[in-house]
Amino acid sequence: MDVEALKAEAGIAACTYVTSGMKVGLGTGSTVKYTILELGRRVREDGLDIVGVPTSLATELLAKEQGIALCELDELEGLDVVIDGTDEFDPDFQLIKGGGAALLREKIVAQSSAKMVVVADDRKKVQCLGAFPLPIEVTPFSYGTTLKAIQEKLGCEANIRQGEDGPLVTDNGNFIIDAQTGPTIRNPAHTEAALLHIAGVVQVGLFTNMCDVVILAGADGVSVLEKEDTS
Ligand code: 5RP
Repeated sequence: MDVEALKAEAGIAACTYVTSGMKVGLGTGSTVKYTILELGRRVREDGLDIVGVPTSLATELLAKEQGIALCELDELEGLDVVIDGTDEFDPDFQLIKGGGAALLREKIVAQSSAKMVVVADDRKKVQCLGAFPLPIEVTPFSYGTTLKAIQEKLGCEANIRQGEDGPLVTDNGNFIIDAQTGPTIRNPAHTEAALLHIAGVVQVGLFTNMCDVVILAGADGVSVLEKEDTS
């Protein structure tokens, strides 16, 4: 099966977590795109009544095109569920996100959601996070200094992500640094906290203890992986 078909399977399967009356965080990326398309179809054809909060300008545009009602997170008392993609997830459901440069809004929305459902194809499943370069959102001000501090803290190469015309600028007007840690992030919460200590770091693409469910599509079909409740 090709990867696009797997993305569609995972994205559409996640829609079972959405019912009328829900407030839904809408993630960003090429997998959750299929979730948004399916939710839009259900809104138009089945009368699904939801309100969405988008995690990027690209998602906002797509959701509007699909006829999904949107509002600001600040207008709501939290969300029922967020559905989002991931770049990697490990056996503890810790995530690397930010491949699409939307990590800051994605994390704000995920933190406000009662449940986080992640949609992924089986390339995203890893034993140890970090083969995917870790995205870190930083202020444009003195980003060279922040880059050096990140390299020193992690002991690895890191690079400013480039757009078409110089550094890529996020929806929040910031830059992204991608850190080439390799698959060495054994304690994601520790790495996240250490990076957040650097003043120029706005947010880190490590989503620790947030994900509740992974909808995983592979050659053998779709599996629903639920995190054990340890509380
Ligand atoms: C955007 C993200 C995406 O969710 C992540 O990059 C996965 O995207 P895709 O489904 O296109 O592989 O974190 O910031």
